[in-house]
Amino acid sequence: MPTITLPDGRTLDAPEGKRLVLALEDAGVDILHRCGGYAKCTTCRVSFSSGEPARMTVAERNRLADGGLIGQVRLSCQIPCDHDMTLKTVNRLTGTDYSDVGSRPEDSITPTPQWVDRPT
Ligand code: FES
Repeated sequence: MPTITLPDGRTLDAPEGKRLVLALEDAGVDILHRCGGYAKCTTCRVSFSSGEPARMTVAERNRLADGGLIGQVRLSCQIPCDHDMTLKTVNRLTGTDYSDVGSRPEDSITPTPQWVDRPT
C-alpha cells in the first residue's frame, strides 16, 4: 500500500490506485477540488518533495501548460496512488471564501486518462 508523507511528518496509507485527491481528503487533509476532479480548476494542486509521478494525464499536462504551472505543481485529481510520495497541498478551504471544497471527484480519474511522460 503506497505511503503518502506530508510536511508535518504525518503519513497516510493510501489504497493502491486510489486518486490522490481522495486519499488526502479521506484522511482528513484540507484540500480543494473545485471542479470535481476534471483537471479544470487546478485547486487540487500539490507540490512534491519526492516521488513525483513520471507520467501525467494529457488533461493535466494541458491544464498545467495553460496556467504556466509545468514543473511547479501537479494536480492530485489526476494522480493514482501507485507508489510512495512526499508532498504538500497548496490550496486549502480554510482561509478562502468558498463554502465547500467542491463536489467529490469520482473514484476513477476523469476525464478518461490518456498518459504521457511528465514534461521536463
Ligand atoms: S483540477 Fe479541479 S479538482 Fe483537480
